[in-house]
This record gives sequence, C-alpha cells and structure tokens, in this order.
Amino acid sequence: MNNEKKLIFSGIQPTGNSFTLGNYIGAVRNWGTLQNDYNCVYSIVDLHSITVKQVPAELRKNSLSAYALLIACGIDPQRSVVFFQSHNKCHAELSWVLSCYTQFGELSRMTQFKDKSAKHTDNVNAGLFTYPVLMAADILAYNADLVPIGVDQKQHLELARNIAQRFNHTHGEFFTVPEAYIPKVGQKIKSLTDPTKKMSKSDENQNGSVYVLDDKDTVIRKFKKAVTDSGSEVKYADGKDGINNLITIYSVITGKSIQETEREFDGKGYGEFKLAVGETVADHLAPIREKHSSLMEDKQYLKECYTEGAARAMSITQKTLTKVYRKVGFVDAR
Ligand code: TYM
Repeated sequence: MNNEKKLIFSGIQPTGNSFTLGNYIGAVRNWGTLQNDYNCVYSIVDLHSITVKQVPAELRKNSLSAYALLIACGIDPQRSVVFFQSHNKCHAELSWVLSCYTQFGELSRMTQFKDKSAKHTDNVNAGLFTYPVLMAADILAYNADLVPIGVDQKQHLELARNIAQRFNHTHGEFFTVPEAYIPKVGQKIKSLTDPTKKMSKSDENQNGSVYVLDDKDTVIRKFKKAVTDSGSEVKYADGKDGINNLITIYSVITGKSIQETEREFDGKGYGEFKLAVGETVADHLAPIREKHSSLMEDKQYLKECYTEGAARAMSITQKTLTKVYRKVGFVDAR
C-alpha cells in the first residue's frame, strides 16, 4: 500500500451466480478504474449474504464464482486487496462494538431493511436489521476515504458516517469519515421489464436483469424484450424511464455521452436501438465471461489470491481493532 494514496473500500454480495449489469455499471466497473489512483480494498461480503436464506453449497460455489468475476472484471488481486469478508474476523468484531454506537431508531429507518423485511416476512432476522452496522464496520475498519457504490447504498453509507462521527465525538478523532463515490451516469440501472424499479439480483422476473455471465443470445434477447414507453424517438426525457435506462446503459458501455447517443440514433426506432444496445453490451461482456471461465478452472490460483488478500486485509484492520478496544476500555490482551 502506498501511504500517499487515499483508501477505497467496497463490497459486493455473492448471491446468485453472477453480478447484474447494475452491479457492474454502478460499482464494479468503477472499482477497476479506481485502482490507478487509490489503494483499493474489495470484498466479497459473504457475511452480509446470509441475512437472507442461502443454500450452503450454492453460497460457497457462488462466492468463489463472484471472486473470480471480480478479477475478470479488471480487479487486480496483486494491486488491490481482494478477499472474502468471512476470512477477516475483524469485520464481525468491530461490527459488535459499532452496534453499541448505533440506535435502534436509526436502523429502523433503513429503507433496505424495510423492503427486505417486507419481502422475507418469514425471516426478519436480527442480522437483517443490523446489516448496516456490519457494512459500517467493513468501511471504518480500513479507515476508508472513499466508498464506490450505486445510489441504493447511499443511506447505508450515511449511517456509517454518522457512526464514525459519533464514535469520534465520544473517544476523540479516530475514524476517517468516509465519502460516497456514486457515478453521475449509471448510479441506478433499472429493470428491463419494469424500468421504475432498480435492476436487482433478487428480481423474480429473470428477464428484468442482465447478468455479466449471460451469453450473447440471452443478453440480446433480454434487451429486445425491454419494456419501453409509447413513443419512438431515442431521446432522454423526463418520465421515459425505459428508454432513459437503455440510453444510460449504452452510453456508459460505449463511453459516448447521452447527446452523442441521441445523435447516433436520430431517426431510428426503438427496435433498432434495443438491438444495438443488446449487441454492444454482449460484445463488452464476452471477454469478461471468457476470463471468468478460465479463472474458474484454476482454483489453486484463486485460493492463493484470496488467502493473500485476507492476510493483507487482516494486517490493516487488526491495528484498527486493537486501538478501538483500547479506546472503549477493554484490558489489553498482551
Ligand atoms: P450489492 O451486493 O447489492 O451490490 C453491489 C454494488 O452494486 C450496486 N448496485 C447497483 N448500481 C447501479 N444500479 C443498480 N441497479 C445496482 N444494483 C446494485 C450497489 O449499490 C453496490 O455498490 N451492502 C452492499 C454490499 C456492502 C458494501 C459494504 C458496499 C457490504 N459492505 C461496504 C460498500 C462498502 C450490497 O448489498 O451491495
């Protein structure tokens, strides 16, 4: 780690067998770019994922696949620290301490908790409720300056800032108060079947989400079926959620501005545009899919990467945790 550089932390859940295009555009794609200018720490947050029911064998398989996918998406495990959250005990330990600096009322206001508890009425567990505290621990354990996320995680990040400030207020300046890094374009990619909702892994309608590991035909088929508004012009406009979403996706993937995209498809209909978006996205994802599949054949290499990643992660956070324990008044262990 270069001490001159600021530190970035971010995480992604290993649910499902792939990331969505929303995860990719809103977060993971930027994680790769940020490696040039920051010290980066990226985690597959498996502890978070058991707040909803998982099949253990599938979770294990999906976690390894997600780890390989991060590398396939351009995260370099030598340059960045890339590890499984459950391999670094400091996250859970710090989470306990921070939970004593977090109010019940604050957690009750989290929209993700409200949404998920409404969706999984048979399993409104305590972990689902304290989920944002663990997320705060993830970030604060590294004293991260910046946290690249999609806009749906903004409320959690704000809570992490409040917890940091509260702890600092009680014990003196200690935690870095992290800033969110939310992309201007692509911070909330919408479902292709209901563009008023975000694209999500947990969407029951599988046509709503494009997955990074979808094959070319599947990607094109999903875009061809994408719900658009009445109208035919490829123009970004208020209230036209469907076409706005497609324009956003196309412009992020091609690097063209929204205006350039509108000009390129001037006079062309929705059908032609949907096909172009589908093909462009599929071509963009193809090399990622290939890289992922070759990485999955080299389990030994993956293991070396995540073992090393956990050791590097632990060496940063153990120092933070020791200081936190001292600050809150625990007797030194050594
Ligand atoms: P998760 O796994 O739901 O999503 C990973 C990242 O993808 C972003 N994202 C999106 N961005 C744009 N459009 C979408 N449709 C879309 N869907 C998801 C998310 O905002 C996120 O950045 N709680 C986090 C994981 C986490 C974390 C952390 C993140 C745990 N600890 C510490 C940052 C820092 C989550 O469930 O993300």
